Amino acid sequence: MNVIHTIEALRAIILENKQKGKRIGLVPTMGYLHEGHLKLASQARTENDVVIMSIFVNPTQFGPNEDFESYPRDLQRDTKLATSVGVDVIFAPSVEEMYPHDGGISILAGHQATLLCGASRLGHFDGVLQVVAKLFNLIQPDISYFGQKDAQQVAIIQTMVRDYNFPVELRIVPVVREEDGLAKSSRNVYLSETERSQAPAIQQALQLAKRELMKSGNVEKSIQLAEKIIEENVEGRIDYLTLLSYPDLAEVTTETDQVLLAVAVYIGKTRLIDNLIFSFKGEHAHV
Ligand code: PAJ
Repeated sequence: MNVIHTIEALRAIILENKQKGKRIGLVPTMGYLHEGHLKLASQARTENDVVIMSIFVNPTQFGPNEDFESYPRDLQRDTKLATSVGVDVIFAPSVEEMYPHDGGISILAGHQATLLCGASRLGHFDGVLQVVAKLFNLIQPDISYFGQKDAQQVAIIQTMVRDYNFPVELRIVPVVREEDGLAKSSRNVYLSETERSQAPAIQQALQLAKRELMKSGNVEKSIQLAEKIIEENVEGRIDYLTLLSYPDLAEVTTETDQVLLAVAVYIGKTRLIDNLIFSFKGEHAHV
């Protein structure tokens, strides 16, 4: 395992491997690895000659009142975990290394970033696109791996890759969950014991709403059912609970095929997200 911190060292590794015609897989992360991240890396291991994981808590995707400072960090632990699934190189730059200039150029996410998480996290997805575009340019991966856990992030990155012709294939890995259904997240460590025991209700609510939707086609009733379950079982606040077409994130119409049922809930100070993506013909919807 090679842990590097500079762009110079990274470029040397990329050049060497490109010259040898090696296939490069990239797993972008903010670290504090869990089995979700490791699943991405394991899949990358099976499909590439070289697996590079970036570990960088990216300040430009955090709002002023968000958890950039307190976001959990442990490079030593991450290095051990990444080694165990066959990652070859960890790229863990400092903020100064990634952003040495007060840049004048921004990438702005479009309408897909105005709703769901984008509505309460202004500028968040612009920051995500900024760092992902830089990583794509620096690492020139053949394939880059992302988790469906962040379904909106996936949809927006797909749009950037399409609109700006990034020569990279995207692989989307299903959500990895705890045994009780809670989606694995680096932020789960913030939860108190009580909050942790309540959190699985979020996934249960989505499952019930999906079942109701498939049965009755009634979007409003399904959403209300899920909201009720969360409100009854979780001491927190629902930020959004929404059904949209996927990946364009538009209203469900008769043309819709795939849908995203997505939720964000504040439990105490922790904001948890989860989702289901499934086939639901819009023509069956009754709103
Ligand atoms: P981070 O939250 O560390 O997640 C890194 C990758 O792991 C993302 O693609 C995310 O969707 C995936 N992931 C997280 N939890 C998962 C789970 N339970 N199951 C499957 N995949 C999961 O997402 C980011 O970092 C950042 O926004 C980043 C893309 C690195 C840009 O800074």
